[in-house]
Amino acid sequence: MALRTLIASETIQARIRELGKQIDRDYPNGTLYLICILKGAAFFLADLARAVEREAFIDFMGIASYGKGKTSSGEVKVTKDLDISLEGVDVLIVEDIVDSGITLNYLTQLLRQRRPRSLEICALLDKPERRQRPIPVKYVGFQIPDEFVVGYGLDFAERYRNLADVCVLEPDEAA
Ligand code: PRP
Repeated sequence: MALRTLIASETIQARIRELGKQIDRDYPNGTLYLICILKGAAFFLADLARAVEREAFIDFMGIASYGKGKTSSGEVKVTKDLDISLEGVDVLIVEDIVDSGITLNYLTQLLRQRRPRSLEICALLDKPERRQRPIPVKYVGFQIPDEFVVGYGLDFAERYRNLADVCVLEPDEAA
């Protein structure tokens, strides 16, 4: 397999600084709760949280989706829940990628039951062509084509998460 850089690290970081400024403008008051969906979004969360200047609390949620790949049951399970309450606060879900929308569709329904004051999504990458469930994503870093991407948190069988760039994973030409 070969890696082709799709979005270079400097471009990612520049876009995150813009997103941070936009988020600061949109949430002028109170504490913003940044909810990171493990594992892929951990890198994005770490950079985004430092790009906002306002007060931000962070927490992590683990999700396993069984609706991906060959089946499309859309079944999603929480594997690690939040430690903090979301009642009455502004919540921003931080994701690395929105693909089918199944994960976020489920998650937004679940988190709305916890009565936050507001609930929005910030995703570094969006693959609109792949959408199966409608999901409003307020902040998108980059829209990308339907290619298999790794790096900056995204994996292939747990590999490549620690690449600084987002890369397309391609079969070797000789293969
Ligand atoms: C990825 C990504 C989203 C989900 C998006 O997670 O982080 O949570 O898939 O896909 P969807 O829009 O089709 O639901 P993944 O299950 O690969 O877990 P990971 O972040 O731990 O690698």
